Amino acid sequence: MAKHHVSVTLNGEPTEFLCSTRQTLLDVLRDELNLTGSKEGCASGDCGACSVMLDGDLVCSCLVLGVEAQSKPIETVEGLAQGDHLHPLQRKFLEHAALQCGICTPGILVAAKELLKRNPDPTEEEIRYWLAGNLCRCTGYNKIVEAVMDAAREMRGA
Ligand code: FES
Ligand code: FES
Repeated sequence: MAKHHVSVTLNGEPTEFLCSTRQTLLDVLRDELNLTGSKEGCASGDCGACSVMLDGDLVCSCLVLGVEAQSKPIETVEGLAQGDHLHPLQRKFLEHAALQCGICTPGILVAAKELLKRNPDPTEEEIRYWLAGNLCRCTGYNKIVEAVMDAAREMRGA
C-alpha cells in the first residue's frame, strides 16, 4: 500500500516521515522516528502514557493518525531536556522519586509541562485535575503531584 509523505516540526526540528493511512502518530514516533519515550499503555485513549503536544494541544498520540500531523508542530518528552540539562520537571521527578516503572512518566511530564505553561502556580487540586487523564498504577500519585508543585516553585523562582 502506498505510504504518505508527512512533514512536521518535531521538537523544533523540521522532520519528514512516511506512514501508512492507518498508522497512529504514536506508532510513527516509536517505529518510524525511533522516539520511544512516548509509551503505549492502552492504545484506546484511556491512560495518557502516549501524551504529546500537537499544534498546541495535549493529545493522546494513540488516537491521532500520523497523516493528521501534516505541517504541525509536535512536542514529545524527548524535547524536554536541553542537551545534558534536564527540564526542572524531570529533575524534580527524580528528586521526589515520582516514578517507578516509568510507563506513565513521559506522558505525565508532557502534560505537566503544558499545565505549568498555562498556570505557573497551580494548586494541588488543579494539578490532580489536569493530570486526571494520565493514569499511574505504581506511585499512588502523591509523589507526582509533589514533584510538579516543586518544579512549579523552582520555575517561578520562588
Ligand atoms: S496509549 Fe494512548 S491513551 Fe493509553
Ligand atoms: S510509574 Fe508505573 S505506571 Fe506510573
